Amino acid sequence: MATDVHRPVTPKTADPAPGSPAHPAPGPVHPAPTSASVPHTRAPATAPAAAPHAVHVEGLTRSFDGRPVIDNLRLDVRPGEFVALLGRSGCGKSTLLRILAGLDRDIEGTVLVPRRKAVAFQAPRLMPWKRVWRNVLLGLPGKPERTLAERALQEVGLNHRSGAWPKTLSGGEAQRASLARALVREPDLLLLDEPFGALDALTRIKAQRLVGELWRRRGCAVLLVTHDVEEAVLLADRVLVMDEGVIAYETRIDLERPRDITDPRFAELRARLLERLGVDTAAEAA
Ligand SMILES: Nc1ncnc2c1ncn2[C@@H]1O[C@H](COP(=O)(O)OP(=O)(O)OP(=O)(O)O)[C@@H](O)[C@H]1O
Ligand SMILES: [Mg+2]
Repeated sequence: MATDVHRPVTPKTADPAPGSPAHPAPGPVHPAPTSASVPHTRAPATAPAAAPHAVHVEGLTRSFDGRPVIDNLRLDVRPGEFVALLGRSGCGKSTLLRILAGLDRDIEGTVLVPRRKAVAFQAPRLMPWKRVWRNVLLGLPGKPERTLAERALQEVGLNHRSGAWPKTLSGGEAQRASLARALVREPDLLLLDEPFGALDALTRIKAQRLVGELWRRRGCAVLLVTHDVEEAVLLADRVLVMDEGVIAYETRIDLERPRDITDPRFAELRARLLERLGVDTAAEAA
């Protein structure tokens, strides 16, 4: 699993004292369960246990070849909140997600995230030489029992394929296996990078419902990167639009669940978000 890759921060400026909260020692891949936040930061971090947020990002900058892709970004996510992140291709959504997942620490600014977090990408990234249940447990410390994997597979309706090889799974099944691999980590923060992007329309609707159910059941915070405005309005408590390296726009989705896409308020939110994304809805309707 990608969250296994944890590199220490390589500071460029304002080096905090070794051993300070801003410089956590490279620890076990999946440290002891805690809801406390883990700083990936060079700035002095506030006391994590007191933080009212699942995610707290302040002054975050990430540059590639001298070009800031993320530029002094600020973001807070409440515990248990479902946030969707939209934005044009190349605006930095995956970069932000990778930073939150702890996969990229070459940053400036403050990033506080829960210790227990998990990430699922658009491609399920299953190891073809390991059976599904072993893929689910991949990267967990110790020697976890198969039953642990099977409980997570049960949650995503895939228990019957526990002993299968990844190449025999359908696209939707592989994506559910990837979700099970995230869930088995009991995350306080679930990071999803276009997890339904490669699925056909019907499978996608089912997968969206599943994520909605899992979120309600688990109560973890979710940050979902998607290109699908309807998906964002369907699932999220709050939708963000990223542009020019920052969160350029955000809106709360106060519609009751389950949401009805034929509700005029749904259509209004969708149109407003499309407008923020620069999509000409009048032309779209024509
Ligand atoms: N390792 C890297 N080295 C150089 N440039 C990078 C690297 N990773 C990302 N970038 C650049 O940063 C920008 C943001 O990339 P990112 O993958 O975050 O975009 P995105 O918003 O997720 O796009 P998409 O919607 O197409 O997935 C792009 O211009 C990309 O080329
Ligand atoms: Mg991306």
